[in-house]
Amino acid sequence: MKFRHAAAAITAMLVMNIAAAQTAAPAKPAPAPAPATTAAKPGANPATDPATPGMPTNETATVPAGTPGADATAAVKPGDATAGQGKAAACGACHGMDGNSTDAQNPRLAGQSEQYIVRQLTDFKAGKRQNPIMMGMAAPLSPQDMHDIGAYFAKQKPLPGVADKALVDQGQTLYREGDTARGIPACMACHGPDGRGNPGAMYPQLTSQHARYIEATLKSWHDGTAWGDDAHAKIMPSIAQKLDEKDIAALASYIEGLHTNDADAPATR
Ligand code: HEC
Ligand code: HEC
Repeated sequence: MKFRHAAAAITAMLVMNIAAAQTAAPAKPAPAPAPATTAAKPGANPATDPATPGMPTNETATVPAGTPGADATAAVKPGDATAGQGKAAACGACHGMDGNSTDAQNPRLAGQSEQYIVRQLTDFKAGKRQNPIMMGMAAPLSPQDMHDIGAYFAKQKPLPGVADKALVDQGQTLYREGDTARGIPACMACHGPDGRGNPGAMYPQLTSQHARYIEATLKSWHDGTAWGDDAHAKIMPSIAQKLDEKDIAALASYIEGLHTNDADAPATR
């Protein structure tokens, strides 16, 4: 498929740019299409079973000192999940103590990679990603706090969500294949066939994320919001601009039902 090759090339390019000096990030080609079901890996344990060979797991992934885009973390040790649990106490009210928030406005953090969490907290603190609540929450955190909290949430298990049956087909096609005619890349090229993301490249896990949060996030990018101005932060706004409201609703619902620990049938309601 011509399109998938283009997506793979773009992905490889981006991965190389972002991760040039990052030892933990192999520039991997877009993964082969997985079977057409929402549950991509029956029985897989998201914490120990890397979605893609060669991809660091949450357990072992560390951010090497001097990682580009993480200047503030240069002298920081890899996150300590035990220390992080105490530091995350203030976060539990909104994100859930185990990172599985119940209010769908607050993103789930369970299973999200340490690297991605650190980047977001750094961006909130710097005011690059703007949200009044989170800018306040991130302000007192040191880079070490961010790593410890990130390591704690990365170890938690995301609870599976469900997709809306009526939206699954459109969401799945866009997620897995994109839409060449409209210049929309396959989401799985970066976020993985089962939505586990790529910690080394700071591509977030999407698996089981609340549809409502995904929808709000894609809409805000569509409408011109950006989380900073580096190359990494420009990826999603340029993609979201090509999505219309129906695409966004379908993708959000499909992604909420996308998870690794279900049987063959897509999780739908
Ligand atoms: C009062 C509720 C509230 C509290 C307390 C809170 N958060 Fe948040 N958090 C949010 C909301 C709402 C968002 C979504 C912001 C947006 O839309 O940009 C968010 C987003 C995030 C994100 C980005 C997630 C993603 O998927 O991109 C991270 C990381 C995060 N919070 C970490 C924390 C940490 C760590 C703490 C504790 C120090 C914390 N939050 C405390 C409400 C809260
Ligand atoms: C070329 C790689 C790439 C592709 C393709 C891609 N994404 Fe992303 N996505 C990213 C990156 C990088 C981020 C994090 C942005 C940041 O940190 O500023 C992200 C973040 C997101 C987030 C926010 C997650 C969170 O927890 O806040 C959502 C939702 C998302 N992408 C959905 C999609 C969808 C839907 C598609 C397909 C239409 C897609 N992405 C295609 C790289 C990609």
